[in-house]
Amino acid sequence: MSGNTFGKAFRVTTWGESHGPAIGAVVDGCPPGIPLTEEAVQVMMDRRKPGASAASTTRKEEDLVHILSGVFEGLTTGTPISLMIKNKDAKSSSYDRFKNLFRPGHGDLSYQKKYGIRDYKGGGRASARETAGRVAAGAVAGLLLEQVGIKTFAYTLELGSVKAKTIDPEAVAKNPFACPDMEAAEKMEARVNDVRKDGDSLGGVVQVQAAGVPAGLGEPVFDKIDAQIAKAMMSIGAVKGVEIGAGFEAARLTGSVNNDPIWEDGFETNNAGGTLAGVSSGQDIVVRVAVKPIPSISVPQQTIDVDGKEDTIQVGGRHDISAIPRVNVVCEAMLNLVLADFVLRQAQVRALELFAKKAD
Ligand SMILES: Cc1cc2nc3c(=O)[nH]c(=O)nc-3n(C[C@H](O)[C@H](O)[C@H](O)COP(=O)(O)O)c2cc1C
Repeated sequence: MSGNTFGKAFRVTTWGESHGPAIGAVVDGCPPGIPLTEEAVQVMMDRRKPGASAASTTRKEEDLVHILSGVFEGLTTGTPISLMIKNKDAKSSSYDRFKNLFRPGHGDLSYQKKYGIRDYKGGGRASARETAGRVAAGAVAGLLLEQVGIKTFAYTLELGSVKAKTIDPEAVAKNPFACPDMEAAEKMEARVNDVRKDGDSLGGVVQVQAAGVPAGLGEPVFDKIDAQIAKAMMSIGAVKGVEIGAGFEAARLTGSVNNDPIWEDGFETNNAGGTLAGVSSGQDIVVRVAVKPIPSISVPQQTIDVDGKEDTIQVGGRHDISAIPRVNVVCEAMLNLVLADFVLRQAQVRALELFAKKAD
């Protein structure tokens, strides 16, 4: 299986399965001298771990991260950083009844057809548990970005069709759904509780942003910053759409409205979402991510078994009702990975300025 590595200069490989002994990530290309501790990574891990909201699985994972290499006396050494998270509360036997059945909406059918074998316990690599490795690596990338003044953050715009109507950044940390509108957060909780009774699940929309981004990040043409962001977000399980800036709404605007006028002291608007021709413009990067409802639900669904025989399936068990808000920090981690990679690649673009010996 290939496709487990992301990035060119700041490269991350995630590894492990949901019901194996551990999962994690290896970061290669991180520069030396960055302060890095397990505690600093844990801050992001704690935002992903189960249990923080009514929409979360009841699986109890502490998600404690262990740094196995690449750090000496609290600083990165420039060598590969290995991050490991033990799986502690995997109840593999609860998957036995799905051994031969394909869950609609999950990777069971496609993995079986692709490999002819699959880890049916917890979904293997298709499990959202894989995102723990990304978050650990994204936290390392975040510490690199901190050094250059870039800060990323994410919040919930929508959950189960309940929309945030106001954006109060202070509110995000004050409710379990990371919603910038306290009133909407209460409605989200009620919606989640209703849907739980029905054994069903919900989707939503996350906004993820980066502030302090200098102009010049992104590599034309196939590695445009918006192209890499879209790939990064779409690589997260359950993500079905990505918009940058005005996104799909831009298709409905005239050029004179959509263009962001440029003044001496900066841009007037940010319909572009911080990128022009795939290179950051110096404005905030603004991304919205559409997340589908969780596929594992206890509502009876039509499916087939491994022999192609029709059957019905009721998944039940310990699943999230919605990937939101746990997915928010995963989106943030992926944006960190994209930006850290481009920061290092921009140093290569400007290498002559850094190293050229000037003639007297
Ligand atoms: C944070 C997060 C939590 C998730 N929790 C679950 C879950 O508990 N049960 C489940 O079936 N899918 C869950 N998913 C979704 C699956 O990982 C995803 O639907 C699956 O990998 C299939 O990929 P696709 O939806 O991109 O096609 C979660 C996704 C994320 C990002």
